[in-house]
Amino acid sequence: MISRVHLAGLAMWLAGCGLETLDEASCPPAGTPLSYSSFGQAFLNTHCQSCHGGLGPDRQGAPAGYDFGTAESARAWKERIYARSAAGNTTMPPGPDDPPEDERQRLAEWLACGAP
Ligand code: HEC
Repeated sequence: MISRVHLAGLAMWLAGCGLETLDEASCPPAGTPLSYSSFGQAFLNTHCQSCHGGLGPDRQGAPAGYDFGTAESARAWKERIYARSAAGNTTMPPGPDDPPEDERQRLAEWLACGAP
C-alpha cells in the first residue's frame, strides 16, 4: 500500500523535476537582443515547422492549428512552445534531431521577454 509519506515524496519529486513553465521564467532586466526575425523564425522553421507547418500527412501527427509560421502565431502559442521546447523542456521536437541546449536556453529567453 502507498503511504501518505510516499505520496508527499512523489509530489516533491514531481515539483522538482516537472515541467518548467513560461510564467516561472524571467526576461533579463536589460531585455533580450533576440527577436522573431533574428532568432525565433529560424528556430521554429528549423526545429518545428517540418511537422507543425505541414499539411495533411506531412504533419506527422502534429495537431491541427499548432502552426508556428508567423510572429503572431509564435506569440499566441508561446506558453505551449515554452512548455514543450524551452530551457529544460525537451518533449518537442520528438525524435533524435534535438536543438542544442544553448538554443533551448535562447528560446526560453526570447519567449520570457514576450517573443518580440
Ligand atoms: C517530427 C514532427 C514534429 C516536430 C519536428 C515538432 N512537433 Fe510538436 N507535435 C508533434 C506531434 C506528433 C504532436 C502531438 C503529440 C504530442 O503532443 O506530443 C505535437 C504536438 C505539439 C504541441 C501541442 C500539444 C501541447 O503540448 O500544447 C505543441 C505546442 C508542439 N508540438 C510544439 C512543438 C515545437 C515548439 C516544436 C519545435 C521545437 C515541435 N513541436 C516540433 C510533432 C512534431
